[in-house]
Amino acid sequence: MRIDKLLANMNYGSRKEVKKLLKNGLVKVNGEILKDGKSHVEPETDTISVGEEIVHYVKHIYVMMNKPNGVISATEDNHHKTVVDLLGEEVALHQPFPVGRLDKDTEGLLILTNDGQLSHRLLAPKKHVPKTYYAKIDGTVSEDDRSLFKKGVELDDGYVTKPAELKILISDTQSEIELTITEGKFHQVKRMFEAVGKKVTYLKRLQMGSLKLDPSLSSGQYRLLTTDEIKLLENDSPRP
Ligand code: URA
Repeated sequence: MRIDKLLANMNYGSRKEVKKLLKNGLVKVNGEILKDGKSHVEPETDTISVGEEIVHYVKHIYVMMNKPNGVISATEDNHHKTVVDLLGEEVALHQPFPVGRLDKDTEGLLILTNDGQLSHRLLAPKKHVPKTYYAKIDGTVSEDDRSLFKKGVELDDGYVTKPAELKILISDTQSEIELTITEGKFHQVKRMFEAVGKKVTYLKRLQMGSLKLDPSLSSGQYRLLTTDEIKLLENDSPRP
């Protein structure tokens, strides 16, 4: 990796500022001053320092966000605010992207990372990583719905969903439920309830694989995943 790119990624300044650090002899690689920004280094094995400070290279960044309503889960959008717009500069410069999508009006657990392989594995249809949602439903959700979801319901396009686990929290004219699905079809939860004649009026993702939304994150807040949480995701989606 080019030393100027690495240092810019690690927040040591813009490419121009990094060039200045290099020119001024402040950057050392394995004890030797390095002045050429185009020089390649091995971030994982070389000892890189800027002034007195050792650069601890982080290859990947993993963020847990409590996605708010009204924000698009994409990296850029011409008209609307995106989840990446909510990130501070020191996180955004690592160029994380959302792992899968939540609808604009869906809230809750969203993982953002620049680890393309982990993202790919978590979303792979074959891995069946479960996702749990909390929802408010216009209509009385019943035991019949629970059995139907367990078998799989036919969506508007004829697709029959994989077995899903429905937990009924409140069964009334306005119901509250938790639903765990192992796939991620477009608007899946909303369409599953439409298939049984009911309407989702509020939707929030609580869990993805073994990773739970941190209840201390208020809407729109985010934090980095802990090492243990990253391990949970790795275990949920083992490499082939
Ligand atoms: N199902 C939906 O309908 N919407 C989401 O955002 C996620 C799952």
